[in-house]
Amino acid sequence: MQVLRLRLQNFRNFPSLDWEPAPEVNIITGENAQGKTNLLEALFFGLTGRSFRTATERDVVRWGSAFCRVELEVAGTGRHALVVASLTSDGRKKLLVDGKAGRPVELCGEPVIFTPEHLWLVKGGPALRRRWLDLEICSLQPGYVRCLRRYQQVLAHRNRLLLGLRGREGGHEALEPWDRQLVELGARIIFWRRRLLAGFASLASQVYSAISAEKEVLSLAYLSSFPLENAREEEELRLLFLRELARRLPQELAWGQTLVGPHRDDVRFSINGRDARRYASLGQQRTTVLALKLAQLELAARLLNCYPLLLLDDVFSEIDERRREALLGYLAGKTQVFLTTSLERSALPPASGCIFEVRRSTITQGG
Ligand SMILES: Nc1ncnc2c1ncn2[C@@H]1O[C@H](COP(=O)(O)OP(=O)(O)OP(=O)(O)O)[C@@H](O)[C@H]1O
Ligand SMILES: [Mg+2]
Repeated sequence: MQVLRLRLQNFRNFPSLDWEPAPEVNIITGENAQGKTNLLEALFFGLTGRSFRTATERDVVRWGSAFCRVELEVAGTGRHALVVASLTSDGRKKLLVDGKAGRPVELCGEPVIFTPEHLWLVKGGPALRRRWLDLEICSLQPGYVRCLRRYQQVLAHRNRLLLGLRGREGGHEALEPWDRQLVELGARIIFWRRRLLAGFASLASQVYSAISAEKEVLSLAYLSSFPLENAREEEELRLLFLRELARRLPQELAWGQTLVGPHRDDVRFSINGRDARRYASLGQQRTTVLALKLAQLELAARLLNCYPLLLLDDVFSEIDERRREALLGYLAGKTQVFLTTSLERSALPPASGCIFEVRRSTITQGG
């Protein structure tokens, strides 16, 4: 996927903009608060109709304006298209592909995006990693989202039952039908999560080695809340899950909640065998998230037969010069990339791509 031209009207701090980006790596420099991240957000909004920064979409309309409009001329798999996304300040949104209501992501998938907030994937709690994994699976596996929702419902119901049974004699047989459903859905969730992670693991560790100049090894592991004992098939996972529920029942009755299952699982990222959440430096954390995002790019490219757009917000902070250079080396010739940085031009790796500067809501080429 390539963006040939971007036109903006009243998007965030841009009253208007008309920009022809380069086909490969676009490095967008500029001081703080000039509109670099807003530009990435505009690209993302144009292609998806959503913002990656805010759930309140109306925030993207320029203050005091009645509407905003993002227009993109794009080249997808063998096809050119004009994509227009518009939103009024009272929340009415339109997405048009060549003048008709459509989904621009059908041209070549959703853009892959890195933002500094994604560093929470390494530093944050298990729920964030589970959510990341689930979102990745949802984009590849239709039907998974229904399975997840159903699991949450069954889990909530089972927890209510457990609370009701707390401190009472007997009545445990009421749990049985819920146990069966929990185990059925839970085993499927674990199966898909491990499968996706296996696909990610080798790609992410290759990318990590490339960026860290092969000094470090990244590995990914699924941490289950009960022993999986080399189980591979869903059926084996079901049996192990059921056995664990039976074993933990007294404890669950005491606590009034379900203590095992995919809602308690986690993913461990390790660098040279050590848990990244506990030991990774800032640069290593950033390299880890970057490796995950680039692995996602490669997986999407395999699935779609074309690379989606890659948006990297403030990616150079905290990584040293060698890693910056290695990252740009890795990206060269792959896909169109939009990378923002507030680094001075002189601090950028040499011959690193087409450099632009955003300054007070305008963009100029230079460097
Ligand atoms: N709806 C809006 N209308 C007008 N201006 C806005 C709107 N939303 C945000 N802004 C302004 O846009 C400016 C630029 O924001 P942006 O996040 O793109 O900066 P940046 O260049 O990425 O800076 P940094 O280097 O600090 O990340 C901010 O100062 C903000 O006040
Ligand atoms: Mg920014």
